[in-house]
Amino acid sequence: MKASAPGKVILFGEHAVVYGRPALAVPVTQVHVDVEVLDSPRKGIFIHAPGIDLHAELNSLPPDHPIASVILKVLSSPNTSPHFLDEKMGGLRGVNISIASTIPVASGLGSGAAVSVALIRALSSFANKSLSDDEVNSLAYEIEKLHHGTPSGIDNSVITYNQPVYFIKGQPIETFKVGKPFTIVIGDTGISALTKESVGDVRRLWLRDSVNLETIFDEIGQISLIARRSIESGKPELLGELMDQNHALLQSLTVSSHELDNLVEAARNAGALGAKLSGGGRGGNMIALADPATAQSVAEGLMSAGAKRAIITEIA
Ligand code: PMV
Repeated sequence: MKASAPGKVILFGEHAVVYGRPALAVPVTQVHVDVEVLDSPRKGIFIHAPGIDLHAELNSLPPDHPIASVILKVLSSPNTSPHFLDEKMGGLRGVNISIASTIPVASGLGSGAAVSVALIRALSSFANKSLSDDEVNSLAYEIEKLHHGTPSGIDNSVITYNQPVYFIKGQPIETFKVGKPFTIVIGDTGISALTKESVGDVRRLWLRDSVNLETIFDEIGQISLIARRSIESGKPELLGELMDQNHALLQSLTVSSHELDNLVEAARNAGALGAKLSGGGRGGNMIALADPATAQSVAEGLMSAGAKRAIITEIA
């Protein structure tokens, strides 16, 4: 059984989304996770993830290991668990799980949620149980909670539904239409940064000065709302200015970094219409809005400014 899941970028609203404001995110299919689950003649569940040099039997991993925790979650679900048992083998049947990913880890492109979504889908189809998108999404959210403390749920949602989402924590997922395609260039600082840490730091700021932080979150929420309208009404060129404003607000939340600011500046100098960090911040990726004709120069500008890689993607 095979399943794939795309990466994602947050266009607007990161961090404020943890505090109930809207955010926009889109799938990025240029990077993805592919999972294959096959029967094995050996008893036990074997995991092969060459990208992270992991070749292990499930029982040898700690239960909170990011991949083991997904498998254990699916195995403990009453819907799927009976299919993993084999009387002849005296317990768990023999299963080989292969995971291949082109999504860099801890970079804001949703690698963790993509692994969860692809694994949940591949394991559940292997168990002859097809789960609905809502079921996959809520299982993936449980995993996000295990590893990130207070995730908004935006990563698992955009990756599960594989469509642009307008996301408000705790509310039903809203997908939205793109009135006119637009081009985004994604630049990777190459610095891995844990979202949990930047989210924790914003929480500490909020505890010290909630009035100021709530104002910043409101402004970010407003930007997400206007951005959604601009995208739906076929005026994506308005997003550049909104990205610049959103980046400045993220700087005031202390989640940018010298490297992110440097790439944001480089993108603007290379002709981008606007740019901002994307995701948890401190490292990871930034995004820039570009005309299709200048996207290549923006990507080159990012690489010359020290980006580890640049991806050009069309949001359609
Ligand atoms: O770093 P990423 O791409 O997983 O994005 C995190 C987005 C935050 O708003 C900072 C946290 C969250 O749970 O929504």
